[in-house]
Parts: sequence; C-alpha cells; structure tokens
Amino acid sequence: MNTRTPLIAGNWKLYKTSPQAVKTAQQLVELVADTVEVDIMIAPVFTALDPVSKVVENSRVALGAQNLYWEKEGAYTGEISADMLVSAGCQYVIIGHSERRQYFGETDETVNKKIRAAIDAELIPVFCVGETEVERESGQTFSVLDKQVKKGLEGYFAKDLGTLVIAYEPVWAIGTGKTATKEQAQEAHEYIRSLIDRNFDKTLAQSVRILYGGSVKPANVSELMAMPDIDGALVGGASLEAESFSNIVKFK
Ligand code: 13P
Repeated sequence: MNTRTPLIAGNWKLYKTSPQAVKTAQQLVELVADTVEVDIMIAPVFTALDPVSKVVENSRVALGAQNLYWEKEGAYTGEISADMLVSAGCQYVIIGHSERRQYFGETDETVNKKIRAAIDAELIPVFCVGETEVERESGQTFSVLDKQVKKGLEGYFAKDLGTLVIAYEPVWAIGTGKTATKEQAQEAHEYIRSLIDRNFDKTLAQSVRILYGGSVKPANVSELMAMPDIDGALVGGASLEAESFSNIVKFK
C-alpha cells in the first residue's frame, strides 16, 4: 500500500465555451462534494479559466491549464505565462501532451523549459509522456519513455520535483477507445518509476504520482486504479460530462 493520494484529472482539450465550462464545473462541484482521499482537477481552455476558478473555489475541484509558455512576459504573441495561469486560479498545468507534441511542435526541450517555469511559479506540472503505436509495435516503448523522461527532466534535482505529476498516455490509446490493458499500463508505470529512481532517488520515485491516460472511462477506471503503480487518471472524452467524470473520480 502506498501513501500517494490519487489524482483524477480532466483534460477538456479544445471543448466548451466559458458558459459551457462553467455549467459543467458547477455540476461537477456538486457531484464530488462528498469525496475524500482523492485530488480532482479539471483543465478547461484558457479563456474559461477565470470564470471556472470562481466556480471551483473552496470546492473539491482544483483548476489546471493545458499548456503554458516558459517566459514570464514579453513580445510572444499568443502565449501565456505561468504567473498568468496562477493569477487565473490555476494550481496545475499539463505539459507536453502528445497532441501538443504532434500538432504544435512541442519537443522534449520545450517541455523541459515549461516544467521549470511551472515549478518556479509553484504550479504543479502534469508532465505527459507516452509512445505511439508504431513505437510500441517496434518494441521501443521503454526507450521512448526513457528519452522523454530523461530529457524532460534534465537539469533538475529531486528537491525541485516534489510536486511533479507524470502522466503516461500511450498515444495509440488516446481518443481511440483502445485502453491499454491494466498490465500494459502497470508495466509502463513501473518502468517510469524506475527511471525516476535511476535519474533521481528512491524517495522521489516512491512519492511521484503517475497517472494513466488514454480512453479512461467509468467502466475501466477501477481495474486500472487497482494496479500498484497507477496513481490516478488523466481523462479526455469521459471528463466532458460531469456525471461520467464524477463516476471516474469515485472509482472505488
Ligand atoms: P481520452 O480520454 O479521450 O482518450 O483522452 C486522453 C487524454 O489525452 C487526456 O489528456
């Protein structure tokens, strides 16, 4: 039995206008009001952060953003800084999601800088890693995870990473309905934890929360959460409805 508090996080991606996000957040706050021993986070689009922060204030639900830029301010049209996210009410920020790597040129190097910016602003980074289908089928899952973890966290010390959350999201399982089996997920999580041990230390490896993401639903969350190295879920599609997301939050 470990002492890591589970984290169930909803990544709302490019869905919901501000009024829609506010409505779902209001429903969610009510549905999870009685939950204990689980951390809950939702990450709406940037423009909905401020209004949603007012809804989730003093509730069981924390707010996260889906991305940030590493500079504090400057001539960087279209970007947003860590301090700006904090001022909009965020406690968490998702970094290096595979959709950002795939469509928006995110690399291990940019991920590394973003993690630094998050930590400096006292935002909890949710650092995403995971292999593609081709990489899995050619036996490269572990080497991909190795590289993503090593480069993403290069230059850090264990003491910097006390709040770090890692999300293992196999790209082939995202939005496809193809969840990794609990054994596949556990194997990857165990490997990621061993990488933290190898690159940092045992204490951090034991305390770092590793979430699984990729077609998590109310129907499969319990078996995933029963695995020893799975500490939570990063949920896309099934987090968009308050009812289904709250059922994931109440996975026990
Ligand atoms: P789905 O739950 O829709 O597969 O998305 C997972 C994800 O990308 C969460 O960040």
